[in-house]
This record gives sequence, C-alpha cells and structure tokens, in this order.
Amino acid sequence: MPYPTKRVHFDDYVFNIYEEVYDPAEDTFLFAENLDVKDGLEVLDLGTGCGMLGILAAKRANRVIAVDLNPYAIRCAKENSELNGVRRKIDFIQASLFTTLNANAVFDLILFNAPYLPSVEGEDASWIGHAWAGGTNGRVVVDRFISEVSPHLKPNGKVLLMQSTLTGIEKTLRKFSEQQLKAAVKAEKKLPFFETLTLIEASAGTEKETI
Ligand SMILES: C[S@@+](CC[C@H](N)C(=O)[O-])C[C@H]1O[C@@H](n2cnc3c(N)ncnc32)[C@H](O)[C@@H]1O
Repeated sequence: MPYPTKRVHFDDYVFNIYEEVYDPAEDTFLFAENLDVKDGLEVLDLGTGCGMLGILAAKRANRVIAVDLNPYAIRCAKENSELNGVRRKIDFIQASLFTTLNANAVFDLILFNAPYLPSVEGEDASWIGHAWAGGTNGRVVVDRFISEVSPHLKPNGKVLLMQSTLTGIEKTLRKFSEQQLKAAVKAEKKLPFFETLTLIEASAGTEKETI
C-alpha cells in the first residue's frame, strides 16, 4: 500500500490522501459545496477516490455505497471513513461503474465526479491517469455512466455528475434526455484557460416531492 502524501480538510472532516489516489481538487470542492443530502437517503458514490463525497453524504444518508476502479482509492476511502466516524454507514466496492451492483439496486442519489478530460492513448495507464482521463473526446466514461444510470435510480432519484466545458455540456444534457432524465446545470466554477467546471443534476422527476 502506498503511503499518505498529504492531509486535506473540508468543514470538520479530515482526509488522508494516498499516493495513487486522486488529490481532491476544485471539482471535488465544487461538488462537496453543492452536496445537499437529506436524512435517510440511499446514496451511491461512484469513483469515490479518497472518499470525500461519500463520507460527507454519510453524515445524513441512511447508507452509502462507494465504488472505485482503483484498489488504492478503496483502501484510502475506507480509512478516511474510519477517521471521520462513518465507517459503519458505508460499503466499499472495487469495481467499474455499476458492474458489480445487483441489477435491482436503486438509489435516491447517485454521485459521480467523473474522469472527464480529453486524453490521448496511454494517459490512463496509471491510477491517477484513470482519475481524469476520459479518452479522445473526454466522454468515454461519462457517456457509459449516463447510458447505464437510469435503472439504478429510484422513481424520484437524482444524479449529480461533475464534468468540464472541455467535454461538451450540451452533449451531456442531450444524452441524459435520451435516457428520459431531465438534466440542468446546478453549479459552475470558471477556471483559467477557458474551462468551466460544471455540476449537472439529472432526475427522472416522476414524483412531485424533490430530494
Ligand atoms: C476525478 S476523480 C474523483 C475522486 C473523488 N470522487 C473526488 O471527488 O475527489 C475520479 C475517480 O473515478 C475513478 N474511476 C475512473 N473510472 C472509473 C470507473 N469506470 N468505475 C469506477 N471508478 C472509476 C478513479 O479511480 C477516480 O478515483
């Protein structure tokens, strides 16, 4: 197991960040600042990394499932859940997206700070590369996620997906719509060099009450 390279704080929470695990960045913090989890929800945190989003969600959620392809991320997130006193509320799974979930596993809220940046062949060869590299158009993982997410949402469930304008926000909104999900931009943050981080919220919206 690699060793922790730094310690990150958010609100009253503390996270050890291991080598080989995504270091929480502006996208993580924009996501965290806009995470409003109500009591009792069932939450899926895909691509959990150091576990920050799942751990914040676990404060009020009934249960969180945290998934990551990267085995070091799973170890790191598990330790951080212990550090922050929410270990018993979170199950950790090393897997790609929904592959190991039961077909009938459904959630109130699905979080994904995705690998969304355009990349060239080989840039996803390391675990850190896997954290950000989204293929030539930056959409390989994002598009797969959107096409597979619907069956895992409760009728009034919601999706929060982070991406960047470098990967085409309109295209993402259209892809959600093709899956009968209503999507809109929930929060944005401008970065230098003509890039804006964009948190997109999508829902089936079949019931009146919202989460
Ligand atoms: C941008 S990082 C976000 C990490 C963390 N959620 C955060 O906000 O700091 C993306 C994470 O997704 C994971 N990941 C990439 N492709 C994945 C896949 N197909 N299935 C599950 N996790 C994946 C990476 O290992 C990485 O931890």
